[in-house]
Amino acid sequence: MNNLPRIVSGMRPTGPLHLGHFFGVLVNWLELQKNNECFFFIADWHALTSEYTNPHRIKDFVPELLKDWLAIGLDPEKSIIFQQSQVKAHAELHMLLSMLTPLTWLERNPTYKEIRQELVQKDLNTYGFLGYPVLMSADILLYFPSAVPVGQDQLPHLELTREIARRFNYINGDTFPEPKAVLTNDAKLLGLDGRKMSKSYGNSIALSEPLDAIRPKIMSMLTDTNRTRKTDAGDPHICNLYPYHELLTDKNTCAEIVDSCKNASIGCVDCKKILINSMEAFLAPIQEKRAVFDADKDLLLNILHEGNAKANKRAEENIILIREKLSFNF
Ligand code: TRP
Ligand code: SF4
Repeated sequence: MNNLPRIVSGMRPTGPLHLGHFFGVLVNWLELQKNNECFFFIADWHALTSEYTNPHRIKDFVPELLKDWLAIGLDPEKSIIFQQSQVKAHAELHMLLSMLTPLTWLERNPTYKEIRQELVQKDLNTYGFLGYPVLMSADILLYFPSAVPVGQDQLPHLELTREIARRFNYINGDTFPEPKAVLTNDAKLLGLDGRKMSKSYGNSIALSEPLDAIRPKIMSMLTDTNRTRKTDAGDPHICNLYPYHELLTDKNTCAEIVDSCKNASIGCVDCKKILINSMEAFLAPIQEKRAVFDADKDLLLNILHEGNAKANKRAEENIILIREKLSFNF
């Protein structure tokens, strides 16, 4: 064991990662990977809570998510990258934590209420879905981490994790440190149409999306809606496209864009062309790296198997300590 601070986080394998995931969460992971011991996992059991009628879809997305992660630079030499369902101790700890989690905590969870309203077409009246945050607490607490990098939407789950840890500690004696959330500072990147970026709205750009498909998307992006003619002065700060420049285009060019937008010396079409160049420069190396794993499935699976083995080793050591606390080591 080393003495680096420990980090745990996961993502559900439900579709290709997009720029919103990258700038919202993954930049944090890349930074944390440099000087922490990181556990990053593919939360396939969590995907099953809402996709239980099509479990095969989850299976297909597991290698895709792994490719996205490796392509952006998560490094299996530095981080432990694994698949939740292959580390059975997550299920055991989930069950143990469920014993002491009051139902009211789960029922009042805002994310639970929201998602059920959003996905009315799915029957989420299940035991598993209600217990989603308990499984998430198990994922986290199993590794005794100090912090969990997540998107804003996961904060209620993390608060619940801390409450569950506190309750466990109160009943069984000090066991789990309470992990804190690590949020990305950047404002959220909105979708191409100005709404929240989401695959289900069709307003996202996937990290693996062919550049040919991205160009027309950028050309039709919403900009400053007050600017109807090229001769109208624009305002980058109310323009939906400009935040993309801030993330992808160099600082000097950004400053020029701000000036020339405000004095109407650049039109939105030219501004979009600059963004296309920046986007290509950003995505090309990611996509090249992804292609290596597309071409070598064994390489990909080996990485996952090694990560699973490392996670299992640590999880098995830790679950023994937890069983002992509960006097369940027979
Ligand atoms: N609920 C998280 C999401 O939808 C995924 C997740 C599952 C997770 N277990 C976790 C994230 C543990 C952080 C830690 O994004
Ligand atoms: Fe937005 Fe660029 Fe058009 Fe200004 S010129 S409104 S920053 S797209």
